Amino acid sequence: MKTKDKMLKGSLLFVLLAALPLSLQAKGNASTGQEKSKVCVACHGTTGKSENPTYPNLAGQHASYLAQALGDYRSGARTNRVMAGPAANLSNQDIVDLAAWYASQEGLRDLSIK
Ligand code: HEC
Repeated sequence: MKTKDKMLKGSLLFVLLAALPLSLQAKGNASTGQEKSKVCVACHGTTGKSENPTYPNLAGQHASYLAQALGDYRSGARTNRVMAGPAANLSNQDIVDLAAWYASQEGLRDLSIK
């Protein structure tokens, strides 16, 4: 690869990283996330496996996906009447902690269609 290409790639990466919301850069703590997930249990189950198919399973999902989803509900980029409330007052740290908790749970291992 040419040096110029490498430099271009490097600066693109820098721009992309700088544009990432803080929520994706901060480190989450799963046990703190578990504490914070008490308000989520009614719909998403104690470990993120919901008994009710209306509510998506969160257990075992990628932390970055969960953080992205929560950040999007908070900002309004993803609109959902039900999730707008629980996401509205989450801090970036809450988001990464919750994401770490659900990502650390067993679930979503088999994504094959039966
Ligand atoms: C009153 C029920 C309810 C509560 C409480 C609730 N959720 Fe949800 N949640 C939902 C519903 C319904 C959806 C699906 C919304 C959609 O289609 O976008 C959802 C979607 C999500 C998603 C996106 C899942 C995906 O696969 O894209 C995440 C992440 C999430 N919730 C996390 C949380 C967290 C964390 C909390 C607690 C702070 C919480 N939810 C509290 C009902 C709830």
